[in-house]
Amino acid sequence: MSDISVSQDFSLDKAAITVLGLGHIGLPTALGLAELGRQVIGADDDAAKVQRIRAGDPNFYEPGLVELLAKHLKSGQFQPQEDVAAAVRAGSIIFICVGTPQKASGQADLGQVQAVAQVVARNLNGYKLLIEKSTVPAITAQWLRRTILRYSSRKGGPEDASASGAGPVEFDVASNPEFLREARALEDFFHPNRIVCGVESERARRILENLYSPLKRPLVVTNTSTAELIKHAANAFLSMKISFINMVSDLCEKVGADVGAVARGIGLDNRIGPQFLDAGIGYGGYCFPKDLRAFIHLAEEHGVDFGMLQEVEHVNQSRVEVYVSKIRQALWNLRGKILGVLGLAFKAGTDDIREAVCLKIIAPPRDEGCILRLYDPQAMPNTERALPASQQISYCTSAYGAAQGGHALLLLTEWPEFRDLDLSRLKSLMEVPVLVDGRNPFDPGTVRQAGFEYVSMGRPDMKPAGQHSHPGTLAASF
Ligand code: UGA
Repeated sequence: MSDISVSQDFSLDKAAITVLGLGHIGLPTALGLAELGRQVIGADDDAAKVQRIRAGDPNFYEPGLVELLAKHLKSGQFQPQEDVAAAVRAGSIIFICVGTPQKASGQADLGQVQAVAQVVARNLNGYKLLIEKSTVPAITAQWLRRTILRYSSRKGGPEDASASGAGPVEFDVASNPEFLREARALEDFFHPNRIVCGVESERARRILENLYSPLKRPLVVTNTSTAELIKHAANAFLSMKISFINMVSDLCEKVGADVGAVARGIGLDNRIGPQFLDAGIGYGGYCFPKDLRAFIHLAEEHGVDFGMLQEVEHVNQSRVEVYVSKIRQALWNLRGKILGVLGLAFKAGTDDIREAVCLKIIAPPRDEGCILRLYDPQAMPNTERALPASQQISYCTSAYGAAQGGHALLLLTEWPEFRDLDLSRLKSLMEVPVLVDGRNPFDPGTVRQAGFEYVSMGRPDMKPAGQHSHPGTLAASF
């Protein structure tokens, strides 16, 4: 494929942008930048994925993404491209959004990041700012810089160009970690709490400041290692909040306290804050589990004992058994029991099932001979690929379908539509009306009044003073 015809304008506000990697981070970032008025080339070496994107299909579910993709394919501000080298040559500002999966050791696998550095090194046809967006451990930027210098000095690289009189080619490496949440990626892109820019040169700082100036959000400017560490520390801290409230939840069950009220009671303290204090089945997804392990690994590598984070991980892993034991306690023997499962995605608003706790939870009942009736508003196609339908597993078209003939209903993902379910209808469909709630969206009194045996997280059967339930409605707290 030939080079893309994008003029290389080195005035800071006109430079073409290349985004490498068109996944959950790369595509929203590319389209967000296009919406800010920039010319963006989105490249991925997965030709089939690029073809789908070119046809207007983002390849995964993210609210608002299809619409923004259609808009900028039409405007021409966003150009999908499978030729990564051509995309590198065409852009002056290059975002690295490739995957950083996890090795067996827990360490981040930076193979794709290194491959990008090599392609950049071989295609340095003018000044380029290479920006890490993917989550990478501290000092990766230094490795990127070293790799580019090493590979660009080989035969055919820019040193040859300078030897022929073209002059040395300059580049910078920066770290601009993303804090986008799946299901809110575009909202987070346009309204970030802060923008972290790790830079090693004045030029890089000015380019990033200029790039993000339309968003009018606070910029935290640091060196590259600090920016890299901020990202890992943020995800580790949020994971820690979740494991903390989950332990509080277990304790609430022992002493007759309500974890929701405890979370409110501590969260209203500004120093603690109300978010990420929803007790439940624990955190999942592509980021928290992997990033926490990579952070622990980084600490170990540098001789820092961060055992506290190992405990965070341990607490999270134990949530599966905490929840499964609630099913056992409610049903006694599992063999032959029919379980309706509401929610398969790792959280609401996405079709992503990577490291979804829901899938870990349904494994033991399946192995013990339960019949599983599954429903999720978005994640069923992805789940069915991983867990094909069988005599034991069926995919239903609604929550009511999943409840049909059930001995228990398991609520595992906090989809807003679940809070509006008609409890009487659900009850009438089930063999035994048991609801094991892993996310606490419902008011316990209301569910019990509707005739359910109700088990939730950190809210034992009790009537807290001053609380009244309202028959027929679900008091939602998603
Ligand atoms: C997370 C971070 O929130 C983003 O800032 C970051 O950019 C992203 O990882 C990343 O590193 O790419 P995400 O994985 O999309 O975003 O999802 P979250 O909304 O953070 O939820 C993670 C998990 O924690 C979910 O399984 C969710 O159900 C669970 N969770 C969240 C709880 O169990 N309790 C809570 O109070 C909050």
